[in-house]
Amino acid sequence: MRSGEMSKRENHREDVAGRANVADSPELLAYYDRVEKLELGALWTVANKIEPWEPKSASVPMLWRYADIRGLVSRSADLVSPEKAGRRVLYFNNPGRRDVAASVGWLYSGLQVMRAGEVASAHAHAASALRFIMEGRGAYTIVDGHKLSLGANDFVLTPNGTWHEHGVEADGTECIWQDGLDIPLVNAMEANFYAVHPDLQQTVTRPVNDMVNAWGAPGLRPANEAWARGYSPLLKYEWGPTYEALLRHGKTSDGSPYDGVMMNYINPVTGGPVMATIGAAMQMLRPGEATRAHRHTGSIMYQACKGRGYSIIDGKRFDWQERDVFCVPSWCWHEHANASASEDACLFSFNDLPVMQALGLYREEALRDRDGHQIIIP
Ligand SMILES: [Fe+2]
Ligand SMILES: [Fe+2]
Repeated sequence: MRSGEMSKRENHREDVAGRANVADSPELLAYYDRVEKLELGALWTVANKIEPWEPKSASVPMLWRYADIRGLVSRSADLVSPEKAGRRVLYFNNPGRRDVAASVGWLYSGLQVMRAGEVASAHAHAASALRFIMEGRGAYTIVDGHKLSLGANDFVLTPNGTWHEHGVEADGTECIWQDGLDIPLVNAMEANFYAVHPDLQQTVTRPVNDMVNAWGAPGLRPANEAWARGYSPLLKYEWGPTYEALLRHGKTSDGSPYDGVMMNYINPVTGGPVMATIGAAMQMLRPGEATRAHRHTGSIMYQACKGRGYSIIDGKRFDWQERDVFCVPSWCWHEHANASASEDACLFSFNDLPVMQALGLYREEALRDRDGHQIIIP
């Protein structure tokens, strides 16, 4: 056997006690050939690869500038109809995850546009979904017969298994929003289903915004409404009360050293995340605030929804302004800063932390060096 052939076979050796470190030999290579014919593999050749010392995300930290993509999103409304496209979306295609159309980790996200009077067909899927409204007037979502009117910075759920559809009222304007789904995760779990509503459109069976009226009062829940489903009955989280909650909390709290003043969107019945697989949060960085770096398992998609600033992700600085979208892959160091000395800045984010927590995989670490700040790689 020639040495050139020997190096072709995968063998991830590490010269560390307790790790696999088996040198190739002609006998072993012949042995690997034999087991391979039976669809077997020798674990010690790949163990160090498949069991890394710590998570190493295939996703790349990315920032997508709204100024670069807004016109292209809008242009799609000239080129394809919602009927033909189903959903008219430009999705964030992480360079490290093109194989699964993921934006970061096991999360998918994109920007969708609809014009006044347009309606998309009603459908249901096993993936959980959310929308965060960026601009426009008159957008609405219907979830299982509940119609929700939507304005800028409103956050709405279309949980897994629910019939849902989106549209813009005839007297509205072009609307753009960010979609977030766990499609890559559900596909990885080989559990995805998709169905088109038999009537293509739902009938609105309840008064508009009824779920917000029932479940949207802080610290109160309706006495005669039962809710046992695995997602939040609130369905929509409006910007006004969310921002007010941040301001009020910030008055009497320093917030988190890593995230500033941060509030999680929750299921009011459980106090837990809004959906079984996706969590979401809104955070406020006060004027001039710069947080310390930490890292944790789980992937995060952010949208700057107020103000401007920058985030340092694994040593790289990403400057953002309103409507820019960026991601933090699992176990990447990250810290955020508000670039304004007079205005606050807000970041909407969604994540797969409920999955990490439910499976016992959540881990978090603070950066101890340099007072919690990363070295910026030019
Ligand atoms: Fe959907
Ligand atoms: Fe974080």
